[in-house]
Amino acid sequence: MTTHHGKIALVTGANKGLGIEIARLLGEAGVTVLVGARSAEAGTAAAAVLQGEGLDAHFLAIDVTDPVSIEAAARAIEAKWGRLDILVNNAAVSLEPGVAPSQSQPDLFRRTYETNVFGLVAVIQAMIPLLRKSRSGRIVNMSTGLASLALTSGPEAPFQASRLLAYNSSKTAVNAITVQFANELRADGIKVNAANPGLCATDLSRGQGRPPREGAKVPVGLALIDDDGPSGGLFGENGAAPW
Ligand SMILES: NC(=O)c1ccc[n+]([C@@H]2O[C@H](COP(=O)([O-])OP(=O)(O)OC[C@H]3O[C@@H](n4cnc5c(N)ncnc54)[C@H](OP(=O)(O)O)[C@@H]3O)[C@@H](O)[C@H]2O)c1
Repeated sequence: MTTHHGKIALVTGANKGLGIEIARLLGEAGVTVLVGARSAEAGTAAAAVLQGEGLDAHFLAIDVTDPVSIEAAARAIEAKWGRLDILVNNAAVSLEPGVAPSQSQPDLFRRTYETNVFGLVAVIQAMIPLLRKSRSGRIVNMSTGLASLALTSGPEAPFQASRLLAYNSSKTAVNAITVQFANELRADGIKVNAANPGLCATDLSRGQGRPPREGAKVPVGLALIDDDGPSGGLFGENGAAPW
C-alpha cells in the first residue's frame, strides 16, 4: 500500500468550504498540510481545528491575487520543508449569481479571472521549483461541471441554465491550463489534473449540494494518485468527466 506520510501539501483557500475538507482528508492520509488562506485569522483558526483532530496542519498565508504573498509563501515552504509534493489550487470566487451574461460587469469579470485564472497560474508557476524537488509532484486544479462545454452547450444540456459568464468561463480556462501544465511537467513526473467535486454545500454554492467532505474526495484522490496514474485529465466522482 502506498504511504503518504512525509508528503507536504499546500491547499489554497483552505480556511473553509471544500478547501478545509481537502486539507482534512489529506491530513487523515498522513500528509503534512499547509492550510493556505488569505486571512491570518481564518487560516490560523482552520489549522487549529485540524491540529485538534490530530492532523499535521500549519497555516500558510497566501492571497492568490497578490504576487508578493505568493512569493513569500513559496519562500516559507522552501525554508521549512525544502519541497512541495502536492499543490491543490482550490481558492476561487463566484461573484455573479443571478446575473445574465448580457448583464455581467467588466469589473466583476476581471475580479473573477484575477483569482480563478491569473492567481491559479501565478501559484503554479511559483510552486513549480518546489514541486520539481518532489519524487512525485501532483497539482490538482479545482474545476466544475459548469466549466464543461459539453455539459453546458445547447438547450438540452444539463447545465445550460447555469449562465455564470465569468465563473463558468474562468473554470473552462482552468481546464485548458491544466492540459498545458500537464504537457510541460510530464517529463518531470509531475501530474496535473482537474477535479470536479460536484455540487457541494459551501458559501460559494449558497449552501446547496452534498457535504463538502464527499466532494473533497475527488481532488484528494487526484492529489494522492500513483505514479502510473493519469495526467492532463478532468475527473469527477465517477472518473473521467467531459471537458
Ligand atoms: N461548492 C461547490 O458546489 C463547487 C462545485 C464545483 C467546484 N467548486 C470549486 O471548489 C473550490 C472551493 O469552493 P468552495 O465551494 O469551497 O468555496 P468557498 O466556500 O467560497 O471557499 C472559497 C475559498 O477560496 C478562498 N479565496 C478566495 N479568494 C482568494 C484569494 N484571493 N486568495 C486566497 N484565497 C482566496 C476563500 O477565502 P476567504 O474565506 O478569505 O474568502 C475561501 O477559503 C473552488 O475552486 C470552486 O470553484 C465548488
